[in-house]
Formats: sequence, structure tokens, C-alpha cells
Amino acid sequence: MAPQPKRFAPLRTLGIFVASVTAVYMGLTAYENQDNLIRTFIMPAVRRLPVEMSHNLALLACKYRINPVSQHLDDYNLNTSFFGRLISNPIGIAAGFDRNAEALHGLKDLGFGFIEIGSVTPMAQKGNGRTRLFGLYEDRKIMGSSDGFDSDGHYVVMQRLRRALARNDFKAIVGVNLGSNRSSTTPTRDYATGVKTFGPVADFLVVNATSASTASGQPSWANKKQLIEVLTAVNNARSQLQQRKTVPILLKLSPDMTLDEMKDTAAVISMRKCRVEGLIVANSTATRDNLSPSLVSHDNNGALSGAPLRERSTKQIARMYELTKGSVTIVGVGGISSGRDAFEKIQAGASFVQLYTALVYEGPDLVDRIKGELSMLLKESGYANVRDAVGSNYKQYLPGK
Ligand SMILES: Cc1cc2nc3c(=O)[nH]c(=O)nc-3n(C[C@H](O)[C@H](O)[C@H](O)COP(=O)(O)O)c2cc1C
Repeated sequence: MAPQPKRFAPLRTLGIFVASVTAVYMGLTAYENQDNLIRTFIMPAVRRLPVEMSHNLALLACKYRINPVSQHLDDYNLNTSFFGRLISNPIGIAAGFDRNAEALHGLKDLGFGFIEIGSVTPMAQKGNGRTRLFGLYEDRKIMGSSDGFDSDGHYVVMQRLRRALARNDFKAIVGVNLGSNRSSTTPTRDYATGVKTFGPVADFLVVNATSASTASGQPSWANKKQLIEVLTAVNNARSQLQQRKTVPILLKLSPDMTLDEMKDTAAVISMRKCRVEGLIVANSTATRDNLSPSLVSHDNNGALSGAPLRERSTKQIARMYELTKGSVTIVGVGGISSGRDAFEKIQAGASFVQLYTALVYEGPDLVDRIKGELSMLLKESGYANVRDAVGSNYKQYLPGK
């Protein structure tokens, strides 16, 4: 028999590797000491895969609920209120992980206090065909994404969301991050349509104000005029909802904003017609500030998440907390991979935190670990509840300090 052409060998090996990892992962769900096995056996294998594959495996595990179920009873000091709803902990999964509401139950099982799906665009759209996720491998803490993303569109995502929320065994806070189609000539209308579609069912809505190069690939409308236009439109759409006219709207910011842009944003959201209840700080960064030259050489121009974003977003949280004088709720996100990272963002002014990149690299027990560490840090620092720590040290994190 003629030998197989050589170029297929790596593909076949990769296929066998992925299939084995998946099979072993599924098999291990039967074991009692699952967490240990996943940490010592599965995750090292998953980390050797291309990051897009690691992400897809994590999403599949959550979708088919073969991920471990958190056994962690959240400490009393983590219990808090999310826009009037009680949640057992302030750690959420950030937008981008489950864009299409496919893995809600699995994510809840991991122990997140709240879930953000999306970005969801009005019409279904495919990514731009290029590799969308890339990892920078030196310390496995950075994930990048090129612009262009898949969305199943409002209709399909809405059906999935309704089905999940209708189940008696699903009790979770779920927010929807609203996007606009790449080909859209009316982005403002896309966001308003998102409010009308998801307002009746979502626990909160998120509007992106990110730069064009961020992971979400949203148009840039960080400038004041566009911000006013979009926020006026989403507020009008909210006021026209039959029910749930008070669904909270959060504005997600780019970490690459200048101080003037941040001041403008604070001024805009203080206007009645542009009101938002919260800010999400921040999206992925287009900058390469904290990257060592060896990492930049692996780089492919996309937006970066994870470690390089951690300090930048914490400083921005402190700045927005100062500029808004604590009048809006801040959700802090960017490079969180430990309880200490979460604690810093809370002390800088965040009432809640989210993560994404670290989950892909560190595996499912990360959420429990962060909760345990955060609870301990709160106790050691003399805070009876996480709410008491919010903004308690924001001055220390202001840029230039
Ligand atoms: C691959 C990828 C896709 C993302 N997609 C979205 C998105 O669709 N909408 C959005 O608002 N943010 C998106 N984000 C940004 C994340 O929600 C989050 O703000 C950012 O990754 C920082 O958190 P992290 O460092 O914990 O990953 C994405 C991030 C990554 C890495």
C-alpha cells in the first residue's frame, strides 16, 4: 500500500489527541475526585492544544454538562445583590465565552454568580473565516482574538434563552451583550432592536462602546456624539417595553480610552436620556504595553485579553469609580485569574467581577478557587461582606499612583 502523504500525519495525530482528551474528559466525570484529575491530567493536555480548540472543548463540556459541578457552598461574605437580585457570589463569566446561549446550565454548574452571553447580533453572521483565537504561549495567560465573530442572531439565541429560563432546575442571572452586525449601516438601530428583543427576558443588557479592534469587532463609537445617540436610542427602546421597563443597562468600555474619553463617558451617562445602571470595565485591549518583545513576535494584531489587561483595567475601574463618584455599578473584568486579582478590582471600585481567558487556561475549578481566595482575603482585611470592600482603596489604583 502506498504510504499516506506526510502532510496528513499532524492532522491525524491532532484528531486522535483531541478525541482521546474528549473521551477521557467524559469518562472522568464518573470519578469522585474529578477536580484533582482534571487539574493534574486533563488541563495540561488541553493547554497543549491550539487555544481555539481549548476554548471549544471548554464550551462543549459546558454545553453537554460534562463539566464538573461546583461543590463549593459560597461563603456568606460573598453573598450580594445584583441590581436587586440576590446572588451567592460576585463572580461572572464575561461575554464572548458563550456567545449563543448554548452552555448556560454548564456555566451555572461551574459556580458563577451570574452569566453574560453574547455579543448577539440582530441577524446571524459568520466570523470572517480567519483564525479567531490565538494564544501567546510564553506563560499561557494571554488570549487574543481577531475581529469578526459568529453569532446565531437574535431569533435563535432568544429561543435558547427562553428554553433555558423556563426550566425549573435553572436559576441564574443571565445578561445579554448586544452587538451590531458587521454589515449593518444602522448600528444604533441594532442596539435598540436588541433592547426590544431581549429586554423582556434578560436580567441585564450590555451595550458595547469598544474600539473597532477589540474582540467583539464592534464599530468604534467611543466618541461623545455617537455615545449619546446610541444611549438615547437604547433608553427610548427600554421605555417602550411593555414589561420590565427597568431592566438594567450596562455600558461596556474599551480599556484603550483616553482620560478625556472617560470624562466624556461619565458626563454622558449622567444625562437622564442616556442613563445606564452600570459600566463593564473593560473589553480586550489593542495595545501591547505589557508584552515582552518575545511575545510580540508571536502576536497577530488582534485584541488581547488576560494578563496584559489586568492592571490596565483595574486602573480604569478606579478612574471610572472616581469620575462617577460611585453612582453607577461597576463590573470589573480583565486578566482575573486569582482571588487577589478579583479583590484588587473590587477595592478599585467594582461591585462584581467577570473573567474569561483564565477559565480556558486554568480549567473548571478556577471559579471555586477564586471564590475561596476572595472570601479569605475579605476576612483577613476585616470586611464582613464583599459590598463593604467596593471602592475601599480606589485611590491607590488611580493611574499615576
Ligand atoms: C475570544 C474572545 C472573544 C470575546 N468576545 C466578546 C464579545 O463578543 N463581546 C464582548 O463584549 N466582549 C468580548 N470579549 C471580551 C471579554 O468579555 C472580556 O472583556 C475580556 O476578555 C477581558 O477579560 P479576561 O481577561 O478575563 O479574558 C471577548 C474576549 C475574547 C478573548
